[in-house]
Amino acid sequence: MNIVEELKENKNLSDEQFKVLLETDTYNDELFKQADIVRQQVYGKDVYLRGLIEFSNYCKNNCYYCGIGCENKNITRYRLTKEEILDCCKQGYELGYRTFVLQSGEDPFFTDNLICDIVSAIRQNYKDCAITLSMGEKSKESYIAYFKAGANRYLLRHETANEEHYKKIHPEYLSLKNRKQCLFNLKEIGYQVGSGFMVGSPYQTTKNLIEDFRFLQELKPDMIGIGPFIPAQNTKFANCKQGDLNLTLKIISILRLLFPYALIPSTTALGTIAPNGRELGLKAGANIVMPNLSPAKYRKLYTLYDDKICTNEEAAECRGCLEKRVSLSGYKVVTDVGNPRKTM
Ligand code: SAM
Ligand code: FES
Repeated sequence: MNIVEELKENKNLSDEQFKVLLETDTYNDELFKQADIVRQQVYGKDVYLRGLIEFSNYCKNNCYYCGIGCENKNITRYRLTKEEILDCCKQGYELGYRTFVLQSGEDPFFTDNLICDIVSAIRQNYKDCAITLSMGEKSKESYIAYFKAGANRYLLRHETANEEHYKKIHPEYLSLKNRKQCLFNLKEIGYQVGSGFMVGSPYQTTKNLIEDFRFLQELKPDMIGIGPFIPAQNTKFANCKQGDLNLTLKIISILRLLFPYALIPSTTALGTIAPNGRELGLKAGANIVMPNLSPAKYRKLYTLYDDKICTNEEAAECRGCLEKRVSLSGYKVVTDVGNPRKTM
C-alpha cells in the first residue's frame, strides 16, 4: 500500500508520512485522484453555496497578517445596518442560497443584543436556512445567546495549532489557548463548527502544518477552511511571500482523506492567487463555494489581503460566475442547506 492508499484506508498517517506528502510531489497525482474519489463517494458531484455577507470591517484586534486589523489607518471602515443585512439575505435566498455566512472583524459596535436581533430576524424569515456566524472570539455566554437566537454554525479558524507560531503572527493580547477554547465551547453548545488555517503564513513550517492536522483530528470540525496566506498592504507582513498554490491543493486533498465528511470550501483566496484556483480546489476535494452577497459598494473595503477577487460584481453575477466555474470543474451547484454527511 502506498502512503495515499494508507491515508485513505486509515484516515491517518504518521508525522513522517505527512512530511513526505507535504514536502515532495511524488504522490500528488494519486493524492488528488483519491481525494476526488472519496469526495464523490460522500457528496457525489454536489457543491454547496454559502452566501457571504461581510457586515463590518471594524476590528479591535490587529492580527499581523490581516488587512483590516485596527492599526491599519489606511482603509475606510464600514458597517452594514440590520436592514442592509436582511436585504442581502433576501437577494441570496432568491439566488438559491440556503446558508448565510455573517462575517466581520471583532467589532464591539455589534453588541450581543444587536447580533441576536439580526440573527432572529433572519431565522424568522428563512426557517429552512443555516445561519453561520464568523465574528471571532466571544464568551461562551455570547455564543449561547447567538445560538438561542437561531444561529447554528460558526467559523473560527484556529490559524495555527503551534503556540510559538501563533505568537509570531498575533499580538500578545491574543492567545491560541483562548481560540481553541472558543472552538470547544462552540461545539459543546451544539454549533456545527468550522476551523482551519492559512497555508504559507509567515514562519509556518511543515511541522506546524502537521500540528494543524493533529489539532483538527482532536476537534473533529464539520467544516475546514483553508486558503493561501496573501500579503496585505500596510500590515507587518506586507512584504512576505504568498502561500503556494500546489501546497494548498495538496492540503485540501489530505484534509478530504482525513475527514471524508467535512465541508471544505474552495476559497476566494485560492481564486486570488490563480485564475482557476477555485476550480482546482474543487478538483482537489473541496465541495463548497462562497459567493459574495455583500453590497458591491462595500466589497472593496473588506480588504483582508491585496488584489482580492470578486469585489466588482453584483450578487447575481457572482452566482452565475461560480455556477459556471463549478460546472467547468465537472460538478454541480445544488440548492441545499448543505449539512455534513457523516454516514461513512
Ligand atoms: N474576525 C473573525 C475571525 O477572527 O475569525 C472573522 C474575520 S477574519 C478576517 C477571517 C479569516 O481571514 C481569518 O481566519 C484568516 O485566516 C483570514 N485572513 C486574514 N488575513 C488574511 C490574509 N492576509 N491572507 C489570507 N487569509 C487571511
Ligand atoms: Fe480582526 Fe482581521 S484582525 S478580522
